[in-house]
Amino acid sequence: MLIRQVKAKEGIMFDLLGDTKRTDYAGELDVKSASKNVVVMGWVHRRRDMGNLIFIDFRDVSGIIQIVFNPENGTQLHAKAHKLRNEFVIAVKGKVALRPKDMVNPDLETGEIEITAHELKILNDSQPLPVQINENILADEDLRLKYRYLDLRRPILKENILLRHKIILAIRNFLSKHNFYEIETPLLMRSTPEGARDYLVPSREYQGKFFALPQSPQIYKQLLMISGFDRYFQIAHCFRDEDLRADRQPEFTQLDIEMSFATQEDVFEITEQLFKEVFQQTLGIEIPTPFPRFKYSEVMLKYGTDKPDLRFGLEIKDLSEILKESDFKIFSSVIEKGGCVRAINAKGCGNFSRKEVDKMEEIAKHLGGKGLARMRFADGKFEGSIEKFFSENVKKKICKILEVKDNDLILFVADKEKMVCKILGEIRNYLGRKLNLINNSKFNFLWVTDFPLFEWNEEENFWQTAHHMFTMPKEEHIKYLDEPKNYGKIIGQLYDLVCNGVELSSGSIRCHRIDIQKKIFNVIGVTGEELERRFGFFLKAFEYGTPPHGGIAPGIDRIVMLITGAESIRDVIAFPKSLKAVDLMSESPSEVDEKQLKELGIKIMKKGV
Ligand code: AMO
Ligand code: AMP
Repeated sequence: MLIRQVKAKEGIMFDLLGDTKRTDYAGELDVKSASKNVVVMGWVHRRRDMGNLIFIDFRDVSGIIQIVFNPENGTQLHAKAHKLRNEFVIAVKGKVALRPKDMVNPDLETGEIEITAHELKILNDSQPLPVQINENILADEDLRLKYRYLDLRRPILKENILLRHKIILAIRNFLSKHNFYEIETPLLMRSTPEGARDYLVPSREYQGKFFALPQSPQIYKQLLMISGFDRYFQIAHCFRDEDLRADRQPEFTQLDIEMSFATQEDVFEITEQLFKEVFQQTLGIEIPTPFPRFKYSEVMLKYGTDKPDLRFGLEIKDLSEILKESDFKIFSSVIEKGGCVRAINAKGCGNFSRKEVDKMEEIAKHLGGKGLARMRFADGKFEGSIEKFFSENVKKKICKILEVKDNDLILFVADKEKMVCKILGEIRNYLGRKLNLINNSKFNFLWVTDFPLFEWNEEENFWQTAHHMFTMPKEEHIKYLDEPKNYGKIIGQLYDLVCNGVELSSGSIRCHRIDIQKKIFNVIGVTGEELERRFGFFLKAFEYGTPPHGGIAPGIDRIVMLITGAESIRDVIAFPKSLKAVDLMSESPSEVDEKQLKELGIKIMKKGV
């Protein structure tokens, strides 16, 4: 390795790369590489300067390996190694050696070996880092997002991003093999209806007019079916201006899929095979297929949510029938008004303290509930302030339905059905976590099917689509589109794929017939000029031989979260937005020049005007 130096900086002579060639990546070396002469290039991850021996944890994209500088290999080399600091960029020529048995580091993949350095090039230095990347204690997330390019050097984040690549590659290979074509669709488009606010892009040529960034490529993928492409997919960027959560970003990625002449069964089959392949290739695990299927009404009843975590039991039970005539007025009056009473058996929680139960009641109230009634079961009988309201017969039935045993705690909620589901669904998840019932190495997939097509908007008194306005109703329900009293009964050919309590994908069989689609728009009150303005171009396309079609869109970020075990969606995206939907690194959104605004014909109102 020819060493040519350039300039002196604070006593450090920088070297040029010259014709030095890397021979190996750190993480790919192992005991079989012993005695090999290598050249590695990367960063000083950590250094321990013992004066005599200098140890460097050297890092490149593939991993970390220890490099040893021994004065016996040259005093000049040793003096140079003294100058190394964290995150200096170096090239090292050396020989791989087995570490003495007592020096093996079991925490490091390359812990059985090290490189004995013979030559060192210092290619660049580094200022002390504003965020530490080689320690377990993490800096505040906002600071890490500001210096994201450094945060991404942390091995754990880097591995997530590399695994994301593997996942996407497996997806592309699988779908290509099954005759799907990857086709890009525009980012500048007319607003699509996915239910969130649009990100808008003003037009300079046509002042006062705007493009919207796609909330999904929904309309385009359906148009591609009309164009005859038969099977389409796209790793698609989607943009939604909505409230963020741990698994939501304003800009995220979908694996968008659409198939012609396909039934729900066809979509399920290909999706299951796809997930099987991806899990096999990335985690090496076999996920059992077919995935179990649950109707929406069933999961809402049993788990209180349309995205249940099936890694644990704690099923919710409906007690309305047996409690409608109980003396507990809170319950009987709710049932009389059309609400329901449901309960969950917190198994083995009979000894929960007052504080622990109150905490759950707080959760219920926080969600908008009125309370959380409870009874314990001990020594063969119920205890608690509401026990006196129930006859022996009712108690017997409760015991049977909820499979009550000694030291169980029964938690009841009485309210409108929607609220009962919301509260008990949340309490169930809370108990699953608190009682350590969740096995983090398990992946429990399920399909949720048979969602209602419409839901009544109580605040504003109108029917809205519950999920997706381009969905075909179940064939036997098409007739209800002409019967306003039956709108609520219409079940759509809609489905979600759920895993471990996360909605991974959503899709439907589309409404390929314009007469039916127009009726759907009619139910949700999109008619006449508004229909023409918003969807005219789309409906026009349906007039020219539209094949039956359907599809699905798994959220890539959520799949990567599941496979990597990341708790935050931001840990699987290279450059995510913060929880407040801003890019802290480039400080955007940002103000723009007056000139740009003028060109766009935009005048900024003062805040609050
Ligand atoms: P949907 O709106 O349900 O359906 O989205 C499909 C999947 O995309 C993921 N997802 C998100 N991921 C991260 N951040 C977000 N803000 C976010 N929003 C959604 C979820 C979700 O299941 N066009 C339809 C699909 C179809 O019918 O084919 C659609 O977009 O994993
Ligand atoms: P109260 O008589 O208001 O003190 O309520 C008695 C018990 O019933 C308390 O544990 C409350 O949390 C509970 N409770 C009150 N309203 C409801 C409700 N709608 N559903 C379930 N529990 C309730």
